[in-house]
Amino acid sequence: MHGDGLKPEKTYRALDAEAMATAFAVNTIGPALIAKHVLPLLARDRKTVFAAISARVGSIADNRLGGWHAYRASKAALNMAVRNFAIELAVRNKHAVCVALHPGTVDTGLSKPFQAGVAAEKLFTAEYSAAAMLKVLDAATAERSGTLIAWDGQTIPF
Ligand SMILES: NC(=O)c1ccc[n+]([C@@H]2O[C@H](COP(=O)([O-])OP(=O)(O)OC[C@H]3O[C@@H](n4cnc5c(N)ncnc54)[C@H](OP(=O)(O)O)[C@@H]3O)[C@@H](O)[C@H]2O)c1
Repeated sequence: MHGDGLKPEKTYRALDAEAMATAFAVNTIGPALIAKHVLPLLARDRKTVFAAISARVGSIADNRLGGWHAYRASKAALNMAVRNFAIELAVRNKHAVCVALHPGTVDTGLSKPFQAGVAAEKLFTAEYSAAAMLKVLDAATAERSGTLIAWDGQTIPF
């Protein structure tokens, strides 16, 4: 989202083709290519999970603030890919769970510049966020496949 010439755009006037391509390469194409190679290997007779780390800001329905054009668009595209893969996967893998995850706001280099307005209890350590997401994946069944799920188990509308 930022670094190496990338920074979240506040206006469409700031769009930059190279920065946008980088966002899509990292956030959309990378996870999609991992899916390409991993999904065919999933067992068909039991629950299996493919999860991609997305972000709430990639939800089109939830977007009221705007901005961050490339990052939001690349995560929205990831969400679409996950939904598409889930539909295709369900034909052969009835028990498979293919989801996008929102990790919460996590104290990492990515969120550092945007932490000022975040309440301390809403800024998670990476360990806390990872444990919460693993709990969500443990509990998830095939009915939730193709959705975007937050760290606390809530479904975020696409
Ligand atoms: N932090 C949050 O509040 C938050 C909120 C919502 C969603 N997310 C999502 O959570 C995921 C993890 O983010 P984070 O917060 O842990 O960010 P981070 O600390 O900045 O880590 C980003 C990771 O992406 C890798 N990466 C960045 N550019 C890359 C490139 N060009 N090619 C290959 N790998 C690249 C980095 O690798 P290196 O370590 O090798 O540099 C690093 O492992 C991301 O998908 C992010 O969108 C984070």
